[in-house]
Amino acid sequence: MNYSEKKTFFDELAPQWEEMYDAQKLMRINTIFNNELSFLKSPVLDMGSGTGILLPEFYSHFNHNSFILELDISADMLKQAQKIHPVNGVKYTQSDGHYLPLKPESFNSVVCFQVFPHFYNKQTVMKEIFRILKPAGYLVILHLMGHRELNEMHRQAGHAVKKDRIISAEKMAEHLEAHSFLLNKTVERKDLYLVTAQKPSLL
Ligand SMILES: C[S@@+](CC[C@H](N)C(=O)[O-])C[C@H]1O[C@@H](n2cnc3c(N)ncnc32)[C@H](O)[C@@H]1O
Repeated sequence: MNYSEKKTFFDELAPQWEEMYDAQKLMRINTIFNNELSFLKSPVLDMGSGTGILLPEFYSHFNHNSFILELDISADMLKQAQKIHPVNGVKYTQSDGHYLPLKPESFNSVVCFQVFPHFYNKQTVMKEIFRILKPAGYLVILHLMGHRELNEMHRQAGHAVKKDRIISAEKMAEHLEAHSFLLNKTVERKDLYLVTAQKPSLL
């Protein structure tokens, strides 16, 4: 599926996107951030940020001098993010995760929340993330369901994403190691997919 079809698909979803998040789902995200991701440091890149559902988490987690970059192919998602979560220390960029318009070794954390299946070339994205992470920087790949549930959901979610897939967390961990990441955590169950990895501090 080409870039512009996917962009249009997500642009159209942008106005109603946050309706998918009820109080229970927001609480789950908050618990995951508090219990599993408290090590994250600014500057942070929120890849496929959508309408900025993670902004309250980042904002409460980091101090006020933090830098958060919301990156998405969908301009309408980013517009919604600015409207719904008007917070300081945040920049927005309409960009493709395969070609990050960012300097090498410029971020301490990259969070991919519910975006990885949508990358058509996951190897390229892994290389880009590795490039822009500082030594010892963290990568998080997070979903609120397992890979089978996710793949089934996308199969039924509409033409632009129906072929978008993700491999198991275990296999993802192997791919990340093959791309020189150090693995920290791999958890997968029906209601969670969490892989955290780190760029080595000395290369
Ligand atoms: C399922 S939504 C998740 C949005 C947000 N992370 C959330 O969980 O609410 C996937 C997002 O990734 C974006 N996206 C898809 N392909 C992308 C790419 N190649 N580069 C950057 N963003 C992309 C879409 O526009 C969409 O906003």
